[in-house]
Amino acid sequence: MTGVNYTLDVAGRPLHILRNVGLSVQPAEVVAIVGPSGSGKTSLLMLLAGLERASSGRVLVDGQDLTTLSDDELTLFRRRTLGIVFQSFHLIPSLTALDNVGLALEIAQPELPLASTRAAATEALAAVGLADRLHHRPAALSGGEQQRVGLARAMIAKPRLLLADEPTGNLDQKTGARVIELMFDLARRQHTAVVLITHDPGLAARADRVFTMTLGELTETTSTGRG
Ligand SMILES: Nc1ncnc2c1ncn2[C@@H]1O[C@H](COP(=O)(O)OP(=O)(O)O)[C@@H](O)[C@H]1O
Ligand SMILES: [Mg+2]
Repeated sequence: MTGVNYTLDVAGRPLHILRNVGLSVQPAEVVAIVGPSGSGKTSLLMLLAGLERASSGRVLVDGQDLTTLSDDELTLFRRRTLGIVFQSFHLIPSLTALDNVGLALEIAQPELPLASTRAAATEALAAVGLADRLHHRPAALSGGEQQRVGLARAMIAKPRLLLADEPTGNLDQKTGARVIELMFDLARRQHTAVVLITHDPGLAARADRVFTMTLGELTETTSTGRG
């Protein structure tokens, strides 16, 4: 994205949420964004997901300028190009791990035969270490396991871009670190670009590049780690 401004009208007055934000992420590259609460991090992800529209500037994802797409085109873009991992997992409580993950592929690729969808979901769950949890419902899984299901769901359709908004916010630090390792590993293997929002500087430091959001302004703060 380049020169992106995001301004909302709140009670007749402009509220500047993002100011002249630029960010570019390459395939297989992991970018972390840190910054205080209310600084605009989630808003940035909403623009990258095409769930909100920039007030000005360009938002290019995988060669598509989201600012020029219709709502229907944005829906297709999300199905084909994006994976999203949420802080609170957002799994469907009545569905097993296998069906939660399978459903995501069914939505992305409805033409795929059911047997192929189930086989792919089984494989995706195995890739996150849950081969023996296929038929568990979310309530029967630990937080770390639920987020690994969330990760398998986000990655099953081989997205070009993975967006993660504080995905470890509901996990203890050690479990969170393992989920993040897994996310980075899967993303690099599938050549998926990752934008990860995190409060944890230790997790952010594992990304290829780190950015800090302050009052709607994004600056690169990658440390070279070599002094
Ligand atoms: N739809 C909205 N209406 C009014 N204010 C909003 C809206 N969405 C976000 N904001 C405001 O924009 C700022 C940035 O929010 P957000 O992107 O959620 O920050 P972060 O994820 O960094 O905590 C906050 O001050 C928030 O209150
Ligand atoms: Mg947020």
